[in-house]
Amino acid sequence: MKGLGAGMAIIGCGSATPSQVMTNKDLSQLVDTSDEWIRTRTGISKRHLASEDVSLSDLSAQAAAAAIKMAGLTPADIDLIILATSTADDLFGSAAKVQELLEASQAVAFDLTAACSGFVFALVTAAQFIRTGTYQRVVVIGADMLSRWVDWSDRSSCILFGDGAGAVVCQGIADHDHLLGFEMHSDGKQHDSLNLSYQGKAKTLKEGMVISQGSYQPITMNGREVYRFAVAKVPEVIEKALFRADLTTDDIDWLILHQANQRIIEAVASRLKIPAEKVIANLDEYGNTSAASIPIALDEAVREGKIQPGDIIASSGFGAGLTWGAAIFRWGN
Ligand code: COA
Repeated sequence: MKGLGAGMAIIGCGSATPSQVMTNKDLSQLVDTSDEWIRTRTGISKRHLASEDVSLSDLSAQAAAAAIKMAGLTPADIDLIILATSTADDLFGSAAKVQELLEASQAVAFDLTAACSGFVFALVTAAQFIRTGTYQRVVVIGADMLSRWVDWSDRSSCILFGDGAGAVVCQGIADHDHLLGFEMHSDGKQHDSLNLSYQGKAKTLKEGMVISQGSYQPITMNGREVYRFAVAKVPEVIEKALFRADLTTDDIDWLILHQANQRIIEAVASRLKIPAEKVIANLDEYGNTSAASIPIALDEAVREGKIQPGDIIASSGFGAGLTWGAAIFRWGN
């Protein structure tokens, strides 16, 4: 569908989280940890974990359906679906399955992988299609089920992650652009800090021809390195995105960071001199849901009536890759 080609508005949001809840106390039965240690070091009390019969595509479609409904549209109105995930049901991609579940018959759908930066990177990608007039109505989903890939015997990482999906609907508009500024970065030099890597074994197909066959291995992480990276890079990338938007931190109504660790959120807010009342955080309830964390937090705050149409939101995703990015946007039409 030919769009209006000027800018985009974010006009709907939705989220879906699994009903199974794993508390810190539950975790202390699994590994040598305590509720007190986890809460003071991370701010997390619980995480929601998908049961065996729930797929990433299911959660993604639920979140997207809620966002489309809030936008006052139907799935048939959607031109493009971008699914930001690192934990697709199928390595070939899960976006087309989500399209089928939604019955979004006119949409083209693809996956985008940028770990915990995935939602911000996908939002910026959606904006490029809308600004060029290629597509007018785009669903951006951030969804992950890291419970599938966590090493549940590693207390330094298994305490952090939860499952979930969040989505927004972006629409082309004629006379404004509500994606006010953005900035994206990656640095492969620090790739080894956080991995969910393929590991293969040699397999000989014929004499002189050896290939690799194997599978993905549980998450490995250097927590201190990732912590240091986040606290250094996130304030910087938000400031750059604000500069591009011709705004300052005083113009921000709400700060929604990727929900990795409460201490990271507080350190970033303090460096940017953003008061605690403007900071949206829900990792107490969900832990780190990777690409889903920003849209889940956005959806909760919109539905609670905290975020109002016209409010300016600074969001930033960061994580494996390493990747990091920020998007400054105005909520609503
Ligand atoms: N329960 C109890 N003790 C634990 C523990 C747990 N779950 N995990 C680690 N420890 C122990 C360590 O073994 C270490 O013990 P030692 O001093 O006897 O060796 C001690 O606590 C301190 O470990 P350390 O790794 O230095 O803790 P930390 O203060 O850096 O906190 C993280 C660890 C993981 C919470 C923190 O580094 C972090 O949040 N990093 C960012 C990770 C992240 O956000 N990743 C995703 C990005 S998208």
